[in-house]
Amino acid sequence: MSEMPPGGKPPDTSLSLKISLAGDSGVGKTALVKRFVSDTFNDTYTSTLGAKVSSRRFSVPDPLHEGQRLEVAAAIWDIMGNIGLREVLRDAYFYGAKGVLLVADATRPDTVKNLPAWAKAVTSVAGELSTVVLLNKSDLGKPAKVISANIEALCAEKGWTWMMASAKTGENVPEAFERVARLYLKSLPRTRSPDDSTE
Ligand code: GTP
Repeated sequence: MSEMPPGGKPPDTSLSLKISLAGDSGVGKTALVKRFVSDTFNDTYTSTLGAKVSSRRFSVPDPLHEGQRLEVAAAIWDIMGNIGLREVLRDAYFYGAKGVLLVADATRPDTVKNLPAWAKAVTSVAGELSTVVLLNKSDLGKPAKVISANIEALCAEKGWTWMMASAKTGENVPEAFERVARLYLKSLPRTRSPDDSTE
């Protein structure tokens, strides 16, 4: 049961959060969202047209109230990995995002190289935000040494957390979304108000 602080408001129990996915075409953004939202996977590739918004609720430990959990209502924005359209549509895609999953493909080194440009597109609209990098398609085998080295170096330089993941097997998929939410909560002032939620 949650406690009511003397003379104060009850602790918040839920938080709305816009989480965007970003990364090149075909890296698996749609597949990751599908795995997270409906726990399914499809081998066929259909490029996302524009953007698709999905939602899912999940809970994370509440950093302000030990032993309690906070419910997160996530609006998850899956966008088309087309670089030309990124420049045209980035305001629409990334406005109000509080967290981002930057996705690269563990079999395609160029998709790691392009992550800083994706991050820049997001932060130019949403400002600095909670960032987790996913090297997706881990089920296809260990990534080449050059890919692991590049992602290590990039994430160390930028201060980003990164994880191997697979939309196919589900490896690290819920963990990645939870990590973004926890990073966001950690970045909030120590006293949170209900107005902290996003639209
Ligand atoms: P755009 O919409 O063009 O930006 O692509 P996307 O990043 O949304 O990629 P999408 O999720 O459509 O996946 C592209 C292809 O990769 C599809 O054929 C997926 O089935 C496949 N795929 C995605 N994730 C994985 C994975 O973890 N493992 C394997 N083996 N294939 C995957």
